Amino acid sequence: MPEIIIVKNEAEAGEIYARCVADLIKSKPNAVLGLATGSSPLAAYQALAKVIDAEGIDVSQVQGFALDEYLGLPLDHPESYHSTINRTVTAPLGLDPAKVHVPGDALGGCPLEDGERIADAGAAYDAAIEAAGGIDVQILGIGTDGHVGFNEPGSSLASGTRVKTLVEQTRADNARFFDDDINQVPTHCITQGIGTIMRARHLVLLAFGKGKAEAIRQTCEGGISAFCPASALQMHPHATIIVDEAAASKLSHKDYYEYAYAHKPAWQGI
Ligand code: F6R
Repeated sequence: MPEIIIVKNEAEAGEIYARCVADLIKSKPNAVLGLATGSSPLAAYQALAKVIDAEGIDVSQVQGFALDEYLGLPLDHPESYHSTINRTVTAPLGLDPAKVHVPGDALGGCPLEDGERIADAGAAYDAAIEAAGGIDVQILGIGTDGHVGFNEPGSSLASGTRVKTLVEQTRADNARFFDDDINQVPTHCITQGIGTIMRARHLVLLAFGKGKAEAIRQTCEGGISAFCPASALQMHPHATIIVDEAAASKLSHKDYYEYAYAHKPAWQGI
């Protein structure tokens, strides 16, 4: 069962993530970070950039692996996850771009029809994560339908990195990044699988706002099901879910989570 931390706002969640990752990098300079795109992790990346700067942390050896990428968008498209990770993570944190990887990089934005190139890309990405030593801390957002990465409902909970079809709801949710035009949102993606994500040593999932409340309820207090892929986190030995009041509003054991966190010894960290 993940630890559930209820915070005031995204900034407070960001500070908790930043402290955890900054301490990790200090003790392990070549730490491997799992990276997500979307809105949820932005305050966390900003907080981490501040701590790195304020504490003069050397990040030259840090490695990064993004969760997912759209298929069929050129890498230099402003909304490709290649561009987004560069803009929101690599540049502000001062990471070495050669050490930050996105699942579609090897495909160079090739069209979805190029099956020959796409077929092996997922297995190669999982092998690259293993070769780097595995992911130390994986940051996650969650879709309104309970997806993590782009593992939509129905995804195998043992899956590796592979091509998936985005559901209409996710394309509608993400149309805000594409001039509010769902037709511009790609239909397919390549995403770390749930099995890949579960191999990370620590998972930190962030969710804010009322729109995420039902997905958070199912993730934390529902049954484990491929129809809420994030519910696999219940099986992870070290998962932390950080939510604001709105995203926590449907949790029936909210009082207990607050009590447990308030009484947690500071030395435990997250
Ligand atoms: C992004 C990703 C997705 C998002 C999710 C929530 O790399 O893998 O699972 O985390 O769609 O998106 P936001 O944070 O924009 O609500």
